[in-house]
Amino acid sequence: MTALQGAVVLVTGGQRGIGKAFVDDLLERGAAKVYATARDPKPSTDPRVVPLPLEVTDSASIAALAAAAPDVTVLINNAGAGSPDTYLGSSTDEIRAVFDANFFGPLEVTKAFVPIIEGNGGGHILNAHSALSWVGRHGAYSATKAAFWLQSNALRLELLGHGIGVTGLHMGYVETDMTANVTAPKSQPADIARAALDGIEADAYEVLADDTARGAKARASRDLVETYPELARS
Ligand SMILES: NC(=O)c1ccc[n+]([C@@H]2O[C@H](COP(=O)([O-])OP(=O)(O)OC[C@H]3O[C@@H](n4cnc5c(N)ncnc54)[C@H](OP(=O)(O)O)[C@@H]3O)[C@@H](O)[C@H]2O)c1
Repeated sequence: MTALQGAVVLVTGGQRGIGKAFVDDLLERGAAKVYATARDPKPSTDPRVVPLPLEVTDSASIAALAAAAPDVTVLINNAGAGSPDTYLGSSTDEIRAVFDANFFGPLEVTKAFVPIIEGNGGGHILNAHSALSWVGRHGAYSATKAAFWLQSNALRLELLGHGIGVTGLHMGYVETDMTANVTAPKSQPADIARAALDGIEADAYEVLADDTARGAKARASRDLVETYPELARS
């Protein structure tokens, strides 16, 4: 079991949205220190929160982060970017940029922090995927989250015997800046953070944080028309 009380936690993208909810909940659970990154970090009024800069697509930024946070025991790869809603209307550079932010960036952060977490006696990594790991919508965004899900599943195996567990987090729409233009029902960031942190403490391989995520995973094993009902009308 991974205890969060007394843990030193790094939350990428921890100053707004779901990341901010992670930080708030971690403090309630008694984390000793929480590193909260942003591209342009703001000071914190809580002495246990240490704001640090991070641009996940920049290797030098990741190296500086690892140097500044040598006591981390739990890594939460929360930072992520949306994408244009279309493949055919996007340039390859736009599609590569979202893979850089959502797949290669967190992989590089993980590679920087695995030796740190192991050196500190072991701990945990949580990766923020999506219900869209199982549904091809919103252009390349869902492909990045499917790829990130499989990255987590492979890393979990690579890390067996290293004292580092890996939890994958999946959820539908959540009320944050990312979904400002979405009118569909949304979960609250605090509810998603609570389910995810419970999952870390239970060493869960996967957290399906809402009905959307549970439904998406269940439908992935069934006929494609259940996931894409417009196909039945074509
Ligand atoms: N909201 C949803 O409906 C939803 C659903 C499923 C999964 N998710 C996933 O949950 C995670 C958090 O989403 P959110 O809704 O809280 O998003 P958000 O409100 O749009 O915030 C995005 C966060 O990611 C950080 N970020 C984005 N690009 C970055 C980059 N290149 N380098 C460093 N940090 C970067 C931002 O940091 P700055 O403060 O520096 O901008 C910010 O903290 C993401 O991985 C997202 O894909 C969200």
